[in-house]
Amino acid sequence: MPATQTGAILARMPIVTAMPPGFNSPILPRTPEPRRLPAALVPGMPLTALAPMQDVTDLAFMQVIARYGPPDYFFTEFFRVHAQSRPEKHILRSLTENATGRPVFAQLIGESVPDLLRTVRELLAYPLAGIDLNLGCPAPKIYRKHVGGGLLREPARIDEILGALRATVPGLLTVKMRVGFDDTSNFDRILDLINRHGIDLLTVHGRTVKEMYRGEVHYDLIARAVQQVWCPVLANGNITSADRAAGIVAQTRVAGVMMGRHAIRNPWIFRQCRERFAQPDAAAGAPEMFQPTLEDVREYITHLYRATATPAVPERTQVARMKKYLNFVGQSVDADGSFLHEMRRAQTEVELFSVCDRHLLSDPARRYSLEPFPGVVARPNREGAFETCSLDTTPVRPAVCS
Ligand SMILES: Cc1cc2nc3c(=O)[nH]c(=O)nc-3n(C[C@H](O)[C@H](O)[C@H](O)COP(=O)(O)O)c2cc1C
Repeated sequence: MPATQTGAILARMPIVTAMPPGFNSPILPRTPEPRRLPAALVPGMPLTALAPMQDVTDLAFMQVIARYGPPDYFFTEFFRVHAQSRPEKHILRSLTENATGRPVFAQLIGESVPDLLRTVRELLAYPLAGIDLNLGCPAPKIYRKHVGGGLLREPARIDEILGALRATVPGLLTVKMRVGFDDTSNFDRILDLINRHGIDLLTVHGRTVKEMYRGEVHYDLIARAVQQVWCPVLANGNITSADRAAGIVAQTRVAGVMMGRHAIRNPWIFRQCRERFAQPDAAAGAPEMFQPTLEDVREYITHLYRATATPAVPERTQVARMKKYLNFVGQSVDADGSFLHEMRRAQTEVELFSVCDRHLLSDPARRYSLEPFPGVVARPNREGAFETCSLDTTPVRPAVCS
């Protein structure tokens, strides 16, 4: 197995001696005592996590993912924090009714220190693995309020927020960040703050806010974070398969990987990662890994439909919801995108499943592609409509997902 980050972290005993001007908290030398992260499913193996995704990573979806092989860690979609906010009940259910057997971190998005601390105190009453701060949401509606990715422009504000959170969160405090707002000029300063405030786990989505979900992921910057911070780092962004995850772990020396859209497309990805990580010397494509067939995918779709349906939701609304997941699934069904084309026209449950049957059960033993087919568009380009982090508005194009 490649020597990943975890061992190296324990060997380091860093001391902060100086900070750039403009930082609010006093300069204190510290020798961080690493808090223990929840045990991985397979000790010593690179970690896996399901990315937080608004309107996706709810209780039902986490349970569906767990059925096909859970990640080590789950993260909730973000709790919005502002003067009038109260933790959203439907997100709380991912904590209170979690039957996945895996720990769930509660993610917050906000910038008001009193409101963040009030929310943290409230959340600490629930069974959670830790508190995660969102420093990455790229939706203009969000970043214009100086929260999420918007905070990456203001390291002094991040300093203040992390200082206050660290003083209030007795257990694990984690951060999920992008590499910058419109450039990466603040990246190193923010990494220093991760150390300064004793953050326990850092996830880096290797794109700037302005890069949204497009284009290349800067894995070199993720590798730089691994070198600079004292806590474990999870790599995030376009980790499309277990082979790719193994390559990124080897390239960046991260402690683990976080996957979002590709777990919607392939819910077996976390078990495949564990199978792949157990064979570090295997060539790409060669290792023994679970290979889902189209019939397995048909079963996943049925299960997802049932698990996410509720009596209050009308059939057409549920079909529309399913199409959002199937936009990702369809990227691995056929190279010409005909499943996606037909699926998008279905209006009723019967129509939807008859499209699924035609495409998935005519040759049920055929292997489902582990990588998305190049050029198969997950969604039409609706970037202009991008207002929040949700499948309703998140543009996902082939360049993004491949
Ligand atoms: C529909 C959707 C909703 C998202 N919501 C959140 C969120 O609530 N919190 C967050 O930190 N990131 C959110 N993200 C970003 C993902 O966590 C992840 O960083 C991004 O999708 C890149 O990873 P991937 O290529 O594995 O999907 C969202 C992404 C998508 C596609």
